[in-house]
Amino acid sequence: MAKKITVLTGSPHLNGTSSSLADGFINGVTDKSNLYRFDAGLNAAQVHFLKLDENESTIHDDDIISKEVMPKIIDSDVLVLWTSLYYYGINAELKAVIDRFYEYNHELKDGKDVYVLISGYDAGDKNSSAYHSLTEYFDQLCKYMRWNLRGEVLASNSWNSSNLKKHIEEATNLGKNIK
Ligand SMILES: Cc1cc2nc3c(=O)[nH]c(=O)nc-3n(C[C@H](O)[C@H](O)[C@H](O)COP(=O)(O)O)c2cc1C
Repeated sequence: MAKKITVLTGSPHLNGTSSSLADGFINGVTDKSNLYRFDAGLNAAQVHFLKLDENESTIHDDDIISKEVMPKIIDSDVLVLWTSLYYYGINAELKAVIDRFYEYNHELKDGKDVYVLISGYDAGDKNSSAYHSLTEYFDQLCKYMRWNLRGEVLASNSWNSSNLKKHIEEATNLGKNIK
């Protein structure tokens, strides 16, 4: 049976680098019959922030996270988290989805295979000061959720088109790993 895969992107940039890289990753996946993709940055109006007010439910009629995205993530074997580097952090839209995990922590924890994909302008590697905080963040997040971090693509210097092409190939190869 095909692996259940959820791809979450955070960038609000229509047809931006994250988008082409996510397309590349998905192209590499052999069996896409159970693949679900949600572009949080492009559908931000439907992403409600976590609310911890006991009197106010986070389930609104237009809240796509509780109605569609979270059930898909909970059910997934593989979770792909894709962000662009924005002021040394992750996209706010992706973080808004991650903060919503709080309501589903127990159901989400354990066993998922996770792939992390980061796109940025800076030419550094994962240990450089530009990307270090982000790679550390995903490392900690996976440890806390008891998820297996299976692979990463760091698409650095992604404004350079030949570099971007190379990173798209890396993303496609990562997608091919999912069997
Ligand atoms: C709001 C904003 C903040 C950014 N901050 C950084 C940064 O801190 N470091 C960096 O290397 N690139 C930064 N960039 C560049 C993006 O990370 C880079 O262009 C990335 O490829 C954009 O991906 P996207 O087109 O999918 O959004 C920033 C871009 C924007 C729009």
